[in-house]
Amino acid sequence: MVSRVIPVDPFDLVIFGATGDLARRKILPGLYRRFVAGQIPEGSAIIGAARTQMEAAAFRAQVRDVIAEFVDPAKHHPDQIEGFLALIDYVAIDARGTTGWASLKALVTPGRVHAFYFSVAPGLFGDLAERLHAHDIAGDQARIVVEKPFGRDLATARALNATLAEHFDEHQIYRIDHYLGKETVQNLMAVRFANILFEPLWNAQYIDHVQITVAETVGVAGRGAYYDRSGAMRDMVQNHMMQLLCLIAMEPPYHFDPDAVRDEKLKVIRALDPVDPQDIVRGQYLGVSGKGCAPQPGYLADAENPGSRTESYIAMKVHVANWRWKGTPFYLRTGKRLRARTSEIAITFKEPPHSIFDDAGDWRENVLVIRLQPNEGMNLKVMIKEPGPGGMRLVQVPLDMSFAEALGDDGADIPDAYERLIMDVIRGNQTLFMRGDEVEAAWAWTDPIIAGWEARGDRPQPYDAGSSGPEDALMLMHRDGRRWREIRE
Ligand code: BG6
Repeated sequence: MVSRVIPVDPFDLVIFGATGDLARRKILPGLYRRFVAGQIPEGSAIIGAARTQMEAAAFRAQVRDVIAEFVDPAKHHPDQIEGFLALIDYVAIDARGTTGWASLKALVTPGRVHAFYFSVAPGLFGDLAERLHAHDIAGDQARIVVEKPFGRDLATARALNATLAEHFDEHQIYRIDHYLGKETVQNLMAVRFANILFEPLWNAQYIDHVQITVAETVGVAGRGAYYDRSGAMRDMVQNHMMQLLCLIAMEPPYHFDPDAVRDEKLKVIRALDPVDPQDIVRGQYLGVSGKGCAPQPGYLADAENPGSRTESYIAMKVHVANWRWKGTPFYLRTGKRLRARTSEIAITFKEPPHSIFDDAGDWRENVLVIRLQPNEGMNLKVMIKEPGPGGMRLVQVPLDMSFAEALGDDGADIPDAYERLIMDVIRGNQTLFMRGDEVEAAWAWTDPIIAGWEARGDRPQPYDAGSSGPEDALMLMHRDGRRWREIRE
C-alpha cells in the first residue's frame, strides 16, 4: 500500500545546527525521503545554518554524503539526488552574535511558510528566537521546532516557555517528542477511538494492569556527559513514556484536533499520583569483563563519572487517580543495555467474572500487546478450545497482526517519525507536538520524584548488561502478584 501524499505549497525550512548529529542522521535523510515521495514541492528551500564557515556547495556535498550514509540504499534514487540538492542552501550564522542573519533574511522568501528547526543546544533556543524576530525574519507564517530536552525541571521548562513566548505564539511552537511521530503510537489512538471493540473495556473494571516497556540494547557511550545529567527519568520517562501513558489513559477527545487531543493528555498528567519511593527501582548497567566475548564498559565508565548515581534503568508503578483508572496500576520500565531492543505496551485484562469450565487447562488472562518496535503491530491473546477430541480443554492463542503485513507491504512506505513530524510542521498541524502546559505538567510530576531519591541519597542497583534489569524490578511486580513480560525481540 502506497502512503497518501498530502500536497503542500513551497516552503522554506531553516535548520539551525545543520552540521550536527540529529540533522545528519534524521532531519536531512528524512527530508530526502519526503522529496523522493513527492512531498517537497519545487521552489521550496532547505537552508542549513551553523557556525562553520563554508560555501553552500560544501554543505551540499555534505548532504550528498549524508544521503549515502543514512538513507537505505534501496531508496537512494540516484536520479533524484541532484533535484534535492538544488533546494539546499547554507548560511554560516552566529546564534549569539550578528554574523549571518542578514544573509539568512535574504535567503527566505516572504509570504510563505517558514519553519525554523532549532537542532541546537537548548541554551541557544532563546537567542535564536530573539534574533529571528530582531532581524524580522520570522513572519506570520513562521514556526519554530524545538527538540528535547525541554528544560531539566519545572523551573527551567517554565523559563524556556516564557522566553519562547516573548517572540512566538503557542500555535507557532512545535515541541518535538519523536515518539509521537511513530506509526504505532498514532495507531494507539486509531485502535482506541476508531473501533468499538476496546473502548467499553478500557477501564479499571476490566483492565488489571498496563505495562509499558521501552528496552534498548545500546549504552550511553559517546553521550555520557548529557546522559549522566539526565538519567532514564529525564531522558525517557518525563517525555516519551509519559506520552505513551497519556495516549492509553486519556479520555476520547471530542475531535482529532490539536487542542482537543492535548487537553485530554494534559488531564491524564495532572491526574498522576505522586509515586511512592517503594514503587521505584533504579539501576545502572555493569560492564562485561570479556571472557569469551568482547569486553564492554559499564555505565560508570561510559558516563565517565565513577561516582555517578544516575540511573540507566528505571521501573516504576504509577497510578492515574481518576474514575476510569482507580485501582489499575501502570508499570513503566525503560533502560539501556538490556536483553533486546523492544518497545511495547501490554494491556492485561481481568478474569471473566465466573468460569463455567472445570479443570479446563491453563486459563490465562487476555492480553493486548501493542508493539512499537521492532515489527510494529498488535497481538491479542485469547482463550480457545484446544483442538482435538480431548474434551473441553482451553488453550491461549495469539491473534497476531503485523501492520506492515496487514497493509500489504514491508513497511517501506511508512515514513519515520521525523519525516512525519517535519511535514506536520509545514502543514501547521500541532496534534503530535507537546503543548507548553503539557511539558510543564510532566515536569511538575517528575520533579518531586527525582528530588525524593536525591534527598534520600539512593544509589541505583547494578544490573548485568544483556539482562532484563535489576532484580528488584522483578520484585516490584511480584509483590503485586504480577509478572513483567519477557524482554525479547
Ligand atoms: C531519545 C533518547 O530521545 O530516544 C535516547 O534521548 C533514546 O536516549 C532514544 O535512545 C530512543 O528512541 P528510539 O526511537 O530509538 O526508540
